[in-house]
Amino acid sequence: MSYELPPLPYEYDALEPHISEQVLTWHHDTHHQGYVNGWNSAEETLAENRESGDFDGSAGAIRSVTHNGCGHVLHDLFWQNMSPEGGEEPSGALADRIEEDFGSYEAWKGEFEAAAGDASGWALLVYDSFSNQLRNVVVDKHDQGALWGSHPILALDVWEHSYYYDYGPARGDFVDAFFEVVDWEEPAARYEQAVEQFE
Ligand SMILES: [Fe+2]
Repeated sequence: MSYELPPLPYEYDALEPHISEQVLTWHHDTHHQGYVNGWNSAEETLAENRESGDFDGSAGAIRSVTHNGCGHVLHDLFWQNMSPEGGEEPSGALADRIEEDFGSYEAWKGEFEAAAGDASGWALLVYDSFSNQLRNVVVDKHDQGALWGSHPILALDVWEHSYYYDYGPARGDFVDAFFEVVDWEEPAARYEQAVEQFE
């Protein structure tokens, strides 16, 4: 099988003025496409090596699957976590669980913003199926700092390609902008699916 880049779930200018058409175009068409291509190319190397029995290069290709695969998965999530109708706070079962596990929405948000300010990659809200609780995690690149058994619920990309053209070094302004377009509908459904599977 090979992986394909799904189209954005809205127009390239749909998140303006919070995220510019230019940044979404580069980010989706160039960067995200690059991870899809990288994943496919690494899979080809692995398949060829299995066929030939010569495993030189297989370890590097396995690392490339992790890097590019996590890049594809998280970008796909990130696009779905935003919409022009966003900007609300979560509701329903996910909102209740955030209150239960973090104390309050404000406490969750403060901690998530701290993660986003520090990450060299992503801030993620995950459902940790091992401990049966929600957590924020700081992820460098696309995979360093991931926690086994965790399922990403909400993803915020803080690679420089995500914000620098719009906000320069003021990453905090971009994080504020993310909360103007964050759409909790998809994360709420993803959370319910994850707990159903593991609780
Ligand atoms: Fe990105």
